[in-house]
Parts: sequence; C-alpha cells; structure tokens
Amino acid sequence: MSFKQQLQGSQQRCEEALNTALKQLNISDEYLADAMAYSLFNGGKRVRPFLVQATAQALGINDARVDIAMAAIEMVHSYSLVHDDLPAMDDDDLRRGQPTCHIKFNEATAILAGDALLTGAFEILADMPADFSIKQRLQLIRLLSQGSGASGMVAGQAIDLASVGKEVGKEIDLAHLERMHGYKTGALIRISVLMGAHCGEPDAETLKHLTTYANAIGLAFQVQDDILDIESDTATLGKQQGADLALNKPTYPALLGLTGAKEKAQQLHQQALLALEELSGDTSALAQLADYIITRDH
Ligand code: IPE
Ligand code: IPE
Ligand code: MG
Ligand code: MG
Ligand code: MG
Repeated sequence: MSFKQQLQGSQQRCEEALNTALKQLNISDEYLADAMAYSLFNGGKRVRPFLVQATAQALGINDARVDIAMAAIEMVHSYSLVHDDLPAMDDDDLRRGQPTCHIKFNEATAILAGDALLTGAFEILADMPADFSIKQRLQLIRLLSQGSGASGMVAGQAIDLASVGKEVGKEIDLAHLERMHGYKTGALIRISVLMGAHCGEPDAETLKHLTTYANAIGLAFQVQDDILDIESDTATLGKQQGADLALNKPTYPALLGLTGAKEKAQQLHQQALLALEELSGDTSALAQLADYIITRDH
C-alpha cells in the first residue's frame, strides 16, 4: 500500500472515530453541535491521528483504544486551531479552505466549541470500554493534558503571542524559536506518538527513541508550516498565505532565511530517521510520515 493510501485509510478511520465521539458526547445545544462538527470535519490532514495509529502499529497494537486516542488528539488539535484563529489571537478568516469557526458562527460560539472539543477529548478517553485498564486510561489522559495545557501547546501559544513584534535575530534567537515551536506544535505531535505507544506497554528504551523521533518531526512540522506561509498560496494552503509576515510573527525563515529554514527541516528529518533505526518494529509508516512532513504543500 502506498503512503498516500495509508494516510487516506487513517483519515477515514479518524473521521469514523470522531463521528462516534460526537454521538457519545450528547451535545445538548444544536448550534454548539454544528460549530463543533464544522470545526472537526473540514478537511484536516489528520497527521496527529496518523501518528497515534502508526506508532501503535509499530508496537503491534491495533484495537479500539487506538481509535479513541486518534479521535481525542484530533479534537484537541481542532480546538487549538479554532482558538488560534480568534481575533484575540491570529485573527484569521480562513481555515482548511473554509471560513474560520468564529466567522461562520460567531466569536462566542467559537470559544465554546473549542472548549467543548477540548473537554470532550478527555471524556471519551475516560469512557473507554472497561476492557482497557483504569491505569492505562489515566496514562492517556495524563499525556493529553501535558501535551495540550500549560506545559505544552497552551504554553507555546502564550510564548508565540508574547513574541510578536520582538526583533528576530536580537530579542528572538534560535533557542527561543525552538522552545516556542517545541511547545506550540511539538507538544501535541510528541504526545500523539506517546499516546500511540501507551495504547500498549512500551519499555523505556522504546519510549526514548520514539520521543527523539517525535521531537524532531514536531519541530520540523512547524518549520515547514513557517516555510509554507511564505512559499505556498492561499488556495493550496487553505489558510491565508503571508499571515505570519502580516502579524510580524517570529518564524524560522525570518531568523534563518528560507534556505536556512529548509536546511533545518532536512536536519530534523535525518534526526527523526536515525531515531527510528534504533527501534525493532515496523517503523516504515513513521519514516514516510517524516518525509511527508517536510515535503507537504499544505
Ligand atoms: C496547523 O496544523 C497548525 C500547526 C500546528 C502548524 P495542521 O497543518 O496539522 O492543520 P490541519 O489539521 O491539517 O488543518
Ligand atoms: C498554531 O501555529 C499552532 C497551534 C497551537 C494551533 P500557527 O498559528 O502557525 O498555525 P496556523 O498557521 O494558523 O495553522
Ligand atoms: Mg498562531
Ligand atoms: Mg495561526
Ligand atoms: Mg502558521
């Protein structure tokens, strides 16, 4: 099966898991339910659920836990985008080729839809079928909290906002950018891999190499996002091209230039592949995803 077919298969599996999750949540307001569904089913690449699935598969696991973890991480990611696009944050009108949630609905509904997607992710993990141990459910909940909250994505968003307007190269150096990207984008990507691993019972050595892989692709993912903001176009991206420049956001190309940013993405890609070589299972899907992350056009 080609990588494209694998990704499509995983996307389909993710959509089914998300549909099941929304039904399970018993959403008690129709407008809110519409805004949540709108934000979930609008053509995301589903990279994080793919990572959950591919990591679990590399460790020989492929059961209902994986579907639930795939849905949970995508719900948190989609919430992060809904809030990221709000006027108080990046103030974007276009997301995944459609009007952003606050444009399509309204600002208050977008805030609430984000809140409900975030909390719903934890509900579906807590409500996993009883054949999966409480210990394991708690571990998945802990990982997702760490990746999404004040020690993960939310911290990165705070650093991002605090960095706007600061002089790149002087006040913002490489260490600052790496830290910011590591939190705002790297954290959810790392946690996707770790949640996939914790659908089973991984040993410390496996976790160590998976973490190295995940940190490298997480950073590479945001470096590529920064590059695409310059090199791609709005129609292909499905979001406004040039938005970083317009908001004076600190990015890798702003600090290293386009060539430097591309070299950085290549280095991270190599690091990711080296980490996979240390693992014994079939890691080919994870390797292909690392390629995809730095070659994708949107
Ligand atoms: C966009 O994430 C936000 C970043 C973390 C860079 P994706 O590029 O994964 O967005 P979708 O889910 O495919 O729309
Ligand atoms: C967003 O980073 C990362 C999140 C935590 C949502 P960006 O602000 O660069 O993402 P895009 O470019 O709007 O998708
Ligand atoms: Mg942002
Ligand atoms: Mg943004
Ligand atoms: Mg961006």
